[in-house]
Amino acid sequence: MSINTSLIKESGKAVQDLGVQVAEYFYDNMFKNFPEVRAMFPGDMSEQRVRLFNSVLLIAGNIDNTDMLVPYLQELGVGHIKYDARPEHYTIVGKSLLQTLKHFLGPAWTKEMAEAWIAAYNLASTICIKAAYEAMAPGRFQPLTLEDVPPAQAV
Ligand code: HEM
Repeated sequence: MSINTSLIKESGKAVQDLGVQVAEYFYDNMFKNFPEVRAMFPGDMSEQRVRLFNSVLLIAGNIDNTDMLVPYLQELGVGHIKYDARPEHYTIVGKSLLQTLKHFLGPAWTKEMAEAWIAAYNLASTICIKAAYEAMAPGRFQPLTLEDVPPAQAV
């Protein structure tokens, strides 16, 4: 499925220009609608607040730059294993993100715009989730053998 990358880039920039209030709205909205994820984040969000959001804007700004984007998203997905971010959480973050964009973009949130963001978010999340899955693949476990702990030699 092709993504309307110019819509993503233009709207990402417009939202970025609105500053920190966008990140605040995003988290308030997510924690209100999905209180189950609140405990995953630090109590004091002042430092972390913009990181996730800035990262989304970085992704939006580079949505047509696959060479940069794919490794970035793979690393992000693997990095989120330590936060216990699961596939269902990506749905929650995505809904909250798109509701935030809708709120701030107002009349610019057209059907075309919504479709572009849905496609971009679905693709980005899938890359994150697949990378995390591959990083945790059972096949990566190398079973121990006696060679790892050789028995004492009889003298
Ligand atoms: C495409 C979606 C997402 C993007 C772009 C994103 C981006 C980021 C970034 C850039 C950071 C800070 C740097 C780092 O540790 O990697 C971060 C931290 C974090 N993210 Fe995500 N994230 C996404 C999805 C999620 C999901 C689905 C969850 C689970 C609810 C989540 C939970 C967290 C948590 C708990 C932190 C650490 C906060 C802290 O301890 O201060 N993220 N995220």
